[in-house]
Parts: sequence; structure tokens; C-alpha cells
Amino acid sequence: MSFNLKGKNFLKLLDFSSKEIRFLLDLSKHLKISKYAGTENENLKGKNIALIFEKTSTRTRCAFETAAYDQGARVTYLGPVESQMGKKESIIDTAKVLGRMYDGIEYRGFGQDIVEDLGKYAGVPVWNGLTDMFHPTQILADFLTIEENFGNLEGIKLAYVGDGRNNVANSLMIGAAKMGLDFRIVCPKELEPTTELLNTSLKISKTTGAKITITNDIEEGIKGIHVIYTDVWVSMGEPESVWEERIKLLLPYQVNKKMMDLASPNAIFLHCLPAFHDLKTITGKEIYEKFGIDCMEVSDEVFLSKQSKVFDEAENRTHTIKAVMIATLGN
Ligand code: CP
Ligand code: NVA
Repeated sequence: MSFNLKGKNFLKLLDFSSKEIRFLLDLSKHLKISKYAGTENENLKGKNIALIFEKTSTRTRCAFETAAYDQGARVTYLGPVESQMGKKESIIDTAKVLGRMYDGIEYRGFGQDIVEDLGKYAGVPVWNGLTDMFHPTQILADFLTIEENFGNLEGIKLAYVGDGRNNVANSLMIGAAKMGLDFRIVCPKELEPTTELLNTSLKISKTTGAKITITNDIEEGIKGIHVIYTDVWVSMGEPESVWEERIKLLLPYQVNKKMMDLASPNAIFLHCLPAFHDLKTITGKEIYEKFGIDCMEVSDEVFLSKQSKVFDEAENRTHTIKAVMIATLGN
């Protein structure tokens, strides 16, 4: 092998080559097959893993926990109120302390600089479980799901529709650039990605054959597409007060049957989840009462359709996170 990921942090896809991402996806496939076949080995036996969550989570936390348990590791969960981190103890001190006790640390929270600092000072692998800027483990699961449906990533037309400058959009753009996809962000002008990140992606694309397009035009972005991807309109950590403006900006970009009909006939729908597709959530109900809409980024019809692969995608969080932990920490 021409590279070795042992001891490396997983903080953003920018830090990984296309070959390394390919390796992590192939390892994920292998681990998924082993789990299904009941032939899995415990590559993380005896390892202690800390899971820091300064924001809430269902999938990411459970994926780290199940992946760790499958592989023989033990975990400690530190939720939004359980640790001293940042309040009574600096990030650097926390990193040094946890690095003395644990073999690997997952962090979900706010600034990308926090996870970068943890990675710099912990002395053990640190994995980004979502920051305001990036959500790199999510993209591995998304790409695995795309490969399961289309057999490859290169040349696949993937459109991200919605808040084009959130953590998921940012990470998808970098991942797509690295892996040679034809990637579009379809969003209103106000929610386009930063010029800096776009230029970085365009530069990477030149070496991989990827295509990156930012458009406000739904028809231009969606016509003939293989994968339509969306995410919540307001991300964790953003103030409640942005809902009204966001709904106004993004309602025309809702993924519904009309939009799906513009895509390729074999197109799939992806969403990192959680999703507002009905009135069965507290927030969904509150938004309905205030703004009169019964779904947001995706209609219930599309979410529940055959084209929707969101639950395969959610399951793939475990297989891909397992690959990241084994590659960086395995025995
Ligand atoms: N997709 C995702 O990261 O989900 P959670 O917020 O539930 O972890
Ligand atoms: N953009 C979303 C992703 C959730 C997995 C958020 O940050 O809340």
C-alpha cells in the first residue's frame, strides 16, 4: 500500500487524497459484507473511545457506538452538558487529558477550529462527527449508497439542493471534487457556498475530472441528474430567528415530485437526516402553525418513495465510520 492512515485524524475530506477516500469506501463495503455474513473480526479490541457531542445526534452517535461495539472497543459518551470542555477547561487541555485515557476521540460541535485543535493536541486519532463547517463521515456513507445504486462515483451527476453553504453541502462539494463527480449546488443566490471553498473545489476538480457547478436555476441543475440530495434548511447552532427568511428563500427549492420528475428516470433521493417531511415532529408542527407548510426540504411523497434511499444511507453511517476507526486506529 502506498499510504498508511494509522494514527491520522479524520477532520475533513480536504486532508485525504482520492486514493485514501477510495480505500475507506472499499473497506466500508468489505466491513458491511463481513457484518452481514457474520464473519466480522474485532480489529478494535481493547480500545477506549471518547465520543464528545456538543450538539445532539441520533445517527452519528449510534453509528460510532455500534461500529465500536462490533469491533470490540468500549466507548464513553460525553453529551452537551457532561464535559467541562470550553467552559471550565480549554480545548487544548481537554485534548491532552482525553489523549492520556483514550485511543481515539470523536467530536461533534461548533467551530472547525475546535476539532482541528483537538486533533493537534490529543496525540490520538480525532474524528469529526460534524462541525458548523464540515460533516465528513456523512459523505462517506452518501458515497457508499451512491455506489450501491450506480456501481461507481466517477461521472455520477449529483445535485445538492437547499442551503448551499452548510456543513453537508461543503463536505459534499469537496468529496465530489476529490472523487470525480459531476456535482451541482442548486440554491438561492443568498445561500451559495463561499468563494474560497468553491475555488478550492474547482482546483481539486482540475486534477480529478470532476465538474462543479453552482446554479440558482432548478431546471439547469436537476435535468437528467442521478442523485438529488437535500438537508435541513436551518442547521444546528443557527438561531430560531432565521427560519422565516430561510423558508422564504428555500420553499421554491423543496424536493418534491415535480423536481424528481426533472431528474433521470433511475434517479435516487438522499438526505443525511433528520428530515422535515411531515408533521410528526415538534419542530415540524411549530413551523406548520407559524408558516402553514406541512413539510419543508422534502415532500412526504418523495421521502417515502421507492427512489428514496435515506435509510440505506443512514445504515451506511455505521459501516463507513467503522472503516474510518479501523483505518486510523485498528490493531
Ligand atoms: N446525519 C446525521 O449526522 O444525523 P445525526 O444528527 O442524527 O447524527
Ligand atoms: N446541516 C445539518 C446536518 C445534520 C446532520 C446540521 O448541521 O444541523
